[in-house]
Amino acid sequence: MTGRVEGKVCVVTGGAMGLGESDCRLLAREGGKVIVADIADEKGKALAAEIGAEYYHLDVTKEASWVTFLAHVKDRYGKLNVLVNNAGIVIPGTVETCTEEQWRAVNAVSTDATFYGMKHAIPLMRESGEPCSIVNMSSIAGIVGVPYVFAYAAAKGAIRLMSKAAAVHCAQNGDKIRVNSVHPGGIVTPMTQAVGKQVAEAIARDPRNKPSVRGTTPGQPDDIGYMVLYLASDESKYTNGAEMIVDNTVTSMEGIVP
Ligand SMILES: NC(=O)c1ccc[n+]([C@@H]2O[C@H](COP(=O)([O-])OP(=O)(O)OC[C@H]3O[C@@H](n4cnc5c(N)ncnc54)[C@H](O)[C@@H]3O)[C@@H](O)[C@H]2O)c1
Repeated sequence: MTGRVEGKVCVVTGGAMGLGESDCRLLAREGGKVIVADIADEKGKALAAEIGAEYYHLDVTKEASWVTFLAHVKDRYGKLNVLVNNAGIVIPGTVETCTEEQWRAVNAVSTDATFYGMKHAIPLMRESGEPCSIVNMSSIAGIVGVPYVFAYAAAKGAIRLMSKAAAVHCAQNGDKIRVNSVHPGGIVTPMTQAVGKQVAEAIARDPRNKPSVRGTTPGQPDDIGYMVLYLASDESKYTNGAEMIVDNTVTSMEGIVP
């Protein structure tokens, strides 16, 4: 099937690499007008040039930058149909070792940015009267307790319920705007390639950062990208306020507690 998001204006934050890159490629392939929004300018520009998208430098942690960015989207495209709040960072640390600085940094890129993105995108989406979709990237860390990434777990749990609250808000308002969260398990991306090393270093500093033992073979970015594509398209028109777990059984397994 082609043209699954034909003519839809699609913003993907953190779109330059990893899961966001896969989202951008699939949305562009299926007819979307894609805007790669990131702070990794070199990678973002190269990807945008390759797939016929626009690159925009957006630091998602700054509310004022969102306002300027979405004004640009309105000027250039006249509307916004799809927002994928995908940007995220992870810093290992447990409830006992996480510092205030780490807590704020992780929540700025995930919790704050998802709030700003939805807050300012919804009025623009409403204006067009067309079917619109917001996809918020959470994690299985927003479903079950992952001990060694405490701030990340807080942020991803917040995103899960922010998505439902926004979905109900839009539905009750009669808006054609759906909001869903996606909860990937372990997928091979620059983030997960770096995090294994970070966790090992964090354990060396303080053994209380010990990771949990559950896991499966890691997935590939497209394993999440196709879920994002489905939620972005009108094929998912009755999916709203849902939490889409894509983890190849990780959260279905019996837990192992020593
Ligand atoms: N990879 C996984 O296994 C996995 C699992 C669950 C959830 N997730 C979530 O999926 C999303 C993407 O993860 P990924 O693995 O592709 O990560 P990644 O580190 O490979 O890519 C993240 C992207 O976000 C961008 N970014 C970081 N800070 C930003 C900021 N302030 N403003 C704009 N862009 C910023 C980075 O430049 C990068 O392009 C994240 O929200 C992550 O938490 C990933």
